[in-house]
Amino acid sequence: MITPKVPTYALPGGSTFPLLGLGTWQLEGTQAVDAVAFALDIGYRHVDTATGYSNEAEVGRGLAESGVARTLVFVTTKCPPENVGHERETIQQSLNDLALDYVDLWLVHWPPNGEARPETWREFIRARDDELVREIGVSNYSIAQIDELIEATGVTPAVNQVPWSPKDFDPDLLAAHTERGIVLEAYSPLKRSDLNGSLLREIAEEYGVTPSQVVLQWHLAHGIAVIAKSANHARITANLDAVGFALAADDVAAIDALGNG
Ligand SMILES: NC(=O)c1ccc[n+]([C@@H]2O[C@H](COP(=O)([O-])OP(=O)(O)OC[C@H]3O[C@@H](n4cnc5c(N)ncnc54)[C@H](OP(=O)(O)O)[C@@H]3O)[C@@H](O)[C@H]2O)c1
Repeated sequence: MITPKVPTYALPGGSTFPLLGLGTWQLEGTQAVDAVAFALDIGYRHVDTATGYSNEAEVGRGLAESGVARTLVFVTTKCPPENVGHERETIQQSLNDLALDYVDLWLVHWPPNGEARPETWREFIRARDDELVREIGVSNYSIAQIDELIEATGVTPAVNQVPWSPKDFDPDLLAAHTERGIVLEAYSPLKRSDLNGSLLREIAEEYGVTPSQVVLQWHLAHGIAVIAKSANHARITANLDAVGFALAADDVAAIDALGNG
């Protein structure tokens, strides 16, 4: 099949980052293996997991069972905050479980004890320099916490993965990431959306798509990376198909107005 055209960014470590990916939180066992393999077979090239999801072995099996070459897939995993002080063991365990030589992106899952923790960031830089990971980033960090990491080390996170959806739209926060050259990546984009809300339903009807597809395409229209989880083949497919249309600027602006930012 023809791989749908998912937009990408070039990240600082030289990777190509597909802006739409498959989330895997709460996918377990054979369901996780199947979802990952199916998603890759239909054209996904970005899979998001974490040590904390306890499914890296299954995600790795899904990668292996799909016929897609390792070099074509962007794999993200995350270091749990409780593992700080043991960063190297954590990434080695992730690589073992995933059965990979490297991951494309490694994130600090949450600020440890609510703090930026430059010591952990230095360990991330070492892991990148040792080629265990291609890109390094953070998740659930504030801009102030990110600035603390940059100030301490001179190294800017490639990505900040945060909860995001139309109701979370905050142009100033988005601009603060863009100004620093950081890709904002949205998690829980569907769960956080009111998919039965009248505006999303009206726009979906206008384009002949679903409210979920409107939400995913709206992220892409802003250059925001977005990951959606599904265990269901039809919904995994529909979510990827969100790349297949474009929203007019006035529809993007109408959805922006749902935000509190
Ligand atoms: N960094 C962090 O702290 C953090 C936190 C949360 C999540 N994440 C990552 O972000 C990913 C996505 O977030 P999420 O899993 O919380 O939420 P999500 O992807 O926004 O929503 C997933 C839920 O929506 C359903 N769904 C999927 N596609 C749908 C569609 N087209 N129409 C209607 N319902 C649909 C899924 O059910 P079915 O499976 O039945 O389709 C599931 O219940 C996670 O899987 C994880 O990889 C990261």
